[in-house]
Amino acid sequence: MSKDVTFTVQPGGALGGHLRVPGDKSISHRAIMLGALADGVTEVSGFLEGEDSLATLQAFRDMGVQIEGPENGRVVIHGVGLHGLQAPPGPLYLGNSGTSMRLLAGLLAGQRFDSVLTGDVSLSGRPMRRVTEPLAEMGAVIGTTEAGTAPLSICGDQPLHGIDYVMPVASAQVKSCLLLAGLYARGRTCVTEPAPTRDHTERMLAGFGYTVQREGAKVCVEGGGRLTASNVEVPADISSAAFFMVGASIAEGSDITLEHVGINPTRTGVIEILRQMGADLSLSNERTVGGEPVADIRVRAASLRGIHIPEEQVPLAIDEFPVLFVAAACAAGETVLTGARELRVKESDRIQVMADGLQILGIDARPTEDGMIIQGRGGEARPLGEGRVVSHGDHRIAMAFAMAALRASGPVVIENCANVDTSFPNFVTLAQQAGLRIRSETHE
Ligand code: S3P
Repeated sequence: MSKDVTFTVQPGGALGGHLRVPGDKSISHRAIMLGALADGVTEVSGFLEGEDSLATLQAFRDMGVQIEGPENGRVVIHGVGLHGLQAPPGPLYLGNSGTSMRLLAGLLAGQRFDSVLTGDVSLSGRPMRRVTEPLAEMGAVIGTTEAGTAPLSICGDQPLHGIDYVMPVASAQVKSCLLLAGLYARGRTCVTEPAPTRDHTERMLAGFGYTVQREGAKVCVEGGGRLTASNVEVPADISSAAFFMVGASIAEGSDITLEHVGINPTRTGVIEILRQMGADLSLSNERTVGGEPVADIRVRAASLRGIHIPEEQVPLAIDEFPVLFVAAACAAGETVLTGARELRVKESDRIQVMADGLQILGIDARPTEDGMIIQGRGGEARPLGEGRVVSHGDHRIAMAFAMAALRASGPVVIENCANVDTSFPNFVTLAQQAGLRIRSETHE
């Protein structure tokens, strides 16, 4: 528990070669969940062996599901059917993983047994009323702290009924939570989203033979069906590939190809935003794998320019802003982000934490309530200074600042990097192979 990791990244260098980043985190979680609840045996390949998706896997083992692996990304799940889960022996500990907690809250609200969901300090500070309130409307009984945070105490044996819910925030976790509860509800459960969010749950439900209806921004499921086991091939995570997309864009002489990356249109905001900034990205070998589009992405260095990021792109790039802020610091002119208040309630307050770190590296980065204004220094060979920044235990902050070193004038030291293992366990090795001068030290 007391393990801490510091990254030290020497300045300069360029990124090159062919790289396959680990499996998509969102899809890995859902593969375990739906595989466990299906009738039959589901085989998953490309599974992300990161702490977050492993927390989901362990939760289902604790509820009596037999799961083989993971071994080289291969997991075999012996599904128990929608009504086959057993009461866990104690609280389900979900570490840093918001997706595990919010999706499981919906699924467990429909079980016959009680359950308790807990997490680490960061997860225990994140808002859960966004799921517990609509679940209560469906008939669920869930206790939170007074602040509306975990631990979540979920009472079993509560009959659920379908609702027609209009989400106040664009959140795939809330949408997915309610759809999973909807599998156990009487009647139809519908969720309307204010803007498109990742649709992996809907795609995978359909892949497991469950009817999902979509009418514009509204998505609905009817309770009382069943899931049929289906094999899942998890593509590489575009959110992990994003660090290398930005790194290669900002470091002169870079030319890197990221293989087999998921390019689901609800996830490709980072590509769109980088292209608007002048990045040189080309997609090839586009194909569909297990209901999800994938491609190889080649990225070559380019001169970036600052932009006003279109608000409709925000939910489509929601996890990529830490590294996009680094791109903005290396772009010519001002970049303005608005409409991204959600960044304040991620694994850390990503607006504040990134602004603090960029300022330490000499960048004029002004946090606003719902975004940031960054004066890019793209005209300079080394737009960023050197220094020591803190990631606040947020994996994506740590990896974003690692890439910043490519254009820094001296070493960048990043504290609190242990949680990189939640989403990208082999980051340091892959980054070294690609050309980043990164070293990782573990302290007890
Ligand atoms: C996720 C949805 C997003 C994202 C998170 C994964 C998912 O969260 O930030 O990393 O797998 O559904 P929100 O639903 O809170 O936007």
